[in-house]
Amino acid sequence: MSKLLVTGGNFLEGTIAVSGAKNAVLPIIAASLLSGEPIRLDDAPDLLDVKVMSEVIKSLGASVERDGSQLKICATNIDNIEAPYDLVSQMRASIVIMGPLLARLGRVRISHPGGCAIGSRPINWHLKGLEALGAEIHMDHGFLDVKAKNLRGTRIYLDFPSVGATENIMMAAARAQGTTVIENAAQEPEIVDLANFINQMGGKIRGAGTSVIHIEGVREFHGTVHTVIPDRIEAGSYLLMAAATGGDVLVQNVISDHLKPVLAKMEEAGIEFNEEDEGIRIRGNGNYQAVDIKTQVHPGFPTDLQAPFLALLTKSNGTAVVTETVFENRFMHVDELKRMGADVKIEGRSAIVQGTSCLYAAPVTATDLRAGAALILAALTAEGTTEIRGIHHIERGYERIQEKISRIGGKIERVD
Ligand code: EPZ
Repeated sequence: MSKLLVTGGNFLEGTIAVSGAKNAVLPIIAASLLSGEPIRLDDAPDLLDVKVMSEVIKSLGASVERDGSQLKICATNIDNIEAPYDLVSQMRASIVIMGPLLARLGRVRISHPGGCAIGSRPINWHLKGLEALGAEIHMDHGFLDVKAKNLRGTRIYLDFPSVGATENIMMAAARAQGTTVIENAAQEPEIVDLANFINQMGGKIRGAGTSVIHIEGVREFHGTVHTVIPDRIEAGSYLLMAAATGGDVLVQNVISDHLKPVLAKMEEAGIEFNEEDEGIRIRGNGNYQAVDIKTQVHPGFPTDLQAPFLALLTKSNGTAVVTETVFENRFMHVDELKRMGADVKIEGRSAIVQGTSCLYAAPVTATDLRAGAALILAALTAEGTTEIRGIHHIERGYERIQEKISRIGGKIERVD
């Protein structure tokens, strides 16, 4: 089993470049199924999850080739409607192939995705939206068997602004007859990037990034070249690591507007940074105030940065309350941080974090990719060398993380 050895105590100094966004490129790869013409994605991060999503659409008949940070996709011959169980079970995000496949072929068979460490993660709102567009859904031995002779535009109100449900419905509606309006839609930047991509292929989507999205169905989608937006969660993770070690780091390829709630909290905590043309430069001094965090859907504080920020707060001055409102079980990193000396108490959906002067190395395990980032952050500031297991989770969402952190002075080594 591979693990990371991270030795604390070094300042992080230098420049770190953020890769393309995992949570944008995954639905965009699925949306490529709408077109039969060649597509090129630039700044497509080379991640495990991207490999799995690429294998999923290849299993349906598409071709996918990686050339450095470019992905070349061609979905001319889509001749299979069933995504393989062993791929879908690896990554629940594969569920977003339902929308485009229904739009393209009128049929899809996919195993009902399981939950994962952070929650049961049902897909009821995905299915409700697709049924509203005219899909017939049957459960058959753990597989969802979905048919839709012709999808018709309609008005859909989402009970909760689910990112995946908004994406699935948007992609199905993109080729439906007539216009669809999604109300209470997710507003994440990755939704906007997906809508821009579909429009570049000939789609007619308006309002992405707001809570009301209008989608006028079109029949034909042509090829395109699209540059994936930078990964705001990766950027935030590195900004927080630099703050925690007291480093001087320029985080390049960042859209500050996508990180507003995080930058606001960093400012409130007294972390020094400024936005430059090339990115965000952070001059941490390792000394910052405790701040309360409450995760919300965008444009609120992102749930994906709750774990890294909580890890930072374990060394702040004072007591912080961190409340997780999006997922029901997203504090697994707390037990691991407590093994390193952190003083955290869970009360319902909140964690009460008492800032403490120092953390120390201990063998810990990452339970999901963002918990993994939190453990790396803690280990970079702890005394001694921390062993982190479960690094396959981390490598799902952070491209070349060990190389990137090493290049700015962090002592991090991967051992098999
Ligand atoms: C996306 O997951 C992201 N994943 C997640 O990032 C991110 O945490 C999440 O959005 C919230 O921002 C990708 O984009 C691949 P949701 P998604 O549907 O679409 C419940 C990471 O670390 N729900 O907005 O699954 C669900 O259980 C990952 O990169 C239903 O109950 O998120 C959750 O509690 C983790 N029924 C909440 O809503 C549904 O039909 C938000 O889920 C759908 C969701």
